[in-house]
Amino acid sequence: MAFPHTNSAPQFNLNAPGLAHDPHWYRKAVFYEVLVQSFADANEDGAGDFSGLISRLDYLQWLGIDCLWLPPFFDSPQLDGGYDVRDFTAVMETYGTILDFKSLVTQAHERGMRIIIDLPINHTSDQHPWFKASREHPDGPFGDYYMWSDTTDLYQDARVIFVDTEESNWTFDPIRRQFFWHRFFGHQPDLNFANPAVRDAIFNVVRFWMEQGIDGFRADAIPYLFAEDGTNCENLPPTHQFLQDLRAMVDAEFPGRVIIAEANQMPHEVVDYFGTEENPECHMAFHFPIMPRLYYALRDQKAAPIVETMANTPSIPRGAQWGTFLRNHDELTLEMVTPSEREAMLGWYAPDSRMRANIGIRRRLAPLLDNSRAEIELINALLLALPGSPFLYYGDEIGMGDNIWLDDRDASRTPMQWNPDRNAGFSNADPGKLFLPVVQSLVYHYNHVNVEAQTAHTSSLLHWNKQILKVRKAHPAFGLGRYDNVETSHESVLAFLRVLPVGNAEGEAPEIILCVFNLSQHPSAATLNLPGLAGRGLRDVFGGDIFPGIDDGGHLTLTLGSYDFFWLRVRSQSSNALSTQTQALPVIDGSEFGY
Ligand code: GLC
Repeated sequence: MAFPHTNSAPQFNLNAPGLAHDPHWYRKAVFYEVLVQSFADANEDGAGDFSGLISRLDYLQWLGIDCLWLPPFFDSPQLDGGYDVRDFTAVMETYGTILDFKSLVTQAHERGMRIIIDLPINHTSDQHPWFKASREHPDGPFGDYYMWSDTTDLYQDARVIFVDTEESNWTFDPIRRQFFWHRFFGHQPDLNFANPAVRDAIFNVVRFWMEQGIDGFRADAIPYLFAEDGTNCENLPPTHQFLQDLRAMVDAEFPGRVIIAEANQMPHEVVDYFGTEENPECHMAFHFPIMPRLYYALRDQKAAPIVETMANTPSIPRGAQWGTFLRNHDELTLEMVTPSEREAMLGWYAPDSRMRANIGIRRRLAPLLDNSRAEIELINALLLALPGSPFLYYGDEIGMGDNIWLDDRDASRTPMQWNPDRNAGFSNADPGKLFLPVVQSLVYHYNHVNVEAQTAHTSSLLHWNKQILKVRKAHPAFGLGRYDNVETSHESVLAFLRVLPVGNAEGEAPEIILCVFNLSQHPSAATLNLPGLAGRGLRDVFGGDIFPGIDDGGHLTLTLGSYDFFWLRVRSQSSNALSTQTQALPVIDGSEFGY
C-alpha cells in the first residue's frame, strides 16, 4: 500500500512538550528496542554509547517512537549480550557513565519519549561479586545466593533452554566443589530466590534504577525465578508471589512505572503474569504465541492460525496490555508453535542451517521476508492493528539485513546503518575496531540500506513506517479498543474490528476500525459478515476516502490486491447519507456491542 507523499525532507528538530501525565501511556505506546552498543558510537571506540544514542533521539522522535527499551547496559563480561551481569548498578565503561544514562533519560523525556530498561534478575554472570563470594565462602553471607547441590539429581523435569550450547542445567564449580543451577548459559548461575536476602537485593536493584528516572523495566526470563523438584520449574506460585510483592513495592514507591514480563509461555500461562486486579503483577507481558503465527500465516496464506491464536488468548485485567513484536535481539523463537508448524517454518524461513539458533531462527525481519516490500508492509500493518503495544526492533524500520556468518544472535545485532559513509555512519573508528562488522551483503549493504538514503525519498520503507505509526497514533482504538474477529468468505482474508466504545475509562473518542488483510500473494475478493454494523458507512483512515458501505444485510464485499490491507473507520451513518466532503468524525455509540 502506498501512502500519499508528504514533505520531502524530515524535520529532526521537533520539540515535544515533554511527558504528559497519562497513567495508561503504555497501552497506546509504540516501543522501540535499541541496543546501546549497536546504535551510535560517539567516542569512536567501535561500540555504541549513551552519547551516541542521545545524538539520535531526534530521529526516533521524528519516527514516532513513544518509548525506548534498552537491553542490559550494565557492567558485564558480554558473554550473553550483557544479560550476564557483573554489577547491577554500574554501566559498561564503553557506553559511558551513570550520568550519561541520566542525561539520556532527561533528553528522551524532553522529547516526549520514555525509557524502559531490561533487568535480568533470574541470574548473574559468574563474574558477579555475589557469585565469587558464594563459591569461595559457602558459609559466608552470599553462600546461599545461588542454588548449589552436591548432585545433579534435583529438578530433572526442567528443560534445557539453550539447546545449542548447554547439555544440562547443572554445572560443576571446581572452587566450591558443588554443582550450581542455571537455566541459561553455564556462566550464568541462577540466583536463589528462596533466600530472602536475594529478594531484598533485587528489590534494591529495582529501586536504584527507578531512582535514575526510568519509566519501567522488562523483567527478563521471569518464569524461572523459583524451582521446585517434580515440576518443570516454570511459572511456579512463589514466582508469582514475588512479582506481586515487587509490583506492590513499585506502586508504593514509584507509582506510574511499569513492569513488562518476558515469559515465553503458552497464552494461559503468560496471562498469569498480569496477576489480578486485586493482586496485580506486571502491567504488560509479551505475547509470544501470536508472533510466530503471523509469519506462519503469511507463508501458509491462511488467516486461520491468527484467528485461532487470538481466540485462545485469554482476556487480561483492566489496565493491562500485551506487548507484541515481530523481531527482537533474540532468535525468532518457535517454542510456541506445534512441531509440524515448526518444521514448516524452518523450511520456509531458515533453509540454511546457519540461520537457525536453539529452537528458532536468527534472522532479521527483511531477510526473513526475502526483502519483499509488500510482505514487510503487511506484517507491520498486522502488528500495529492487532491488540497490544508494538515493540519495534532497531533497524527494521529501514529493512536492515543480518549476517548469519556471525555467531549466535549477533547475526541481527550489527551496527545501525545511518548513511553510506565509513562504518555506515555508526562510528568513526577504524573499521577493524567495530564490536561487530556492519552489514555489507549484496542485498542489504549499508551503501543503500541506510537512514539517510531512506529519508531522502518519500516512498522509502522508513517514510512508510513513519506514516503508519502516525496514523495508528491518531486512532486510540488500536491501543485501547476491544478485538472482535470478523468472519470472511476467503481463507486468505483476515478481518477484525478494533472497538473503542463510548464511556471507555480513558475518555478517548469512541471509534470502530475495521481491519482487513489479504495474506495471499494473489488478489482476493472476500465477503465480510458484519451483522451488528448493517448500513454503516466506511472511511479509509489513511487517505480519508469514503468507501462503499456495509449493506443492509450486514455484508461487505472487498477486493484486495496481493498482500494488500485496509484500515477502515466505521461511521455512525450510512455512506449515502454523508457527502464526501470533510465531515466531523462520527460519534459511535457502540450500542450494538452491548455498551
Ligand atoms: C533472555 C534474553 C536473552 C538472554 C537470556 C538469558 O531471554 O532475552 O537475550 O540470552 O534471557 O540471559
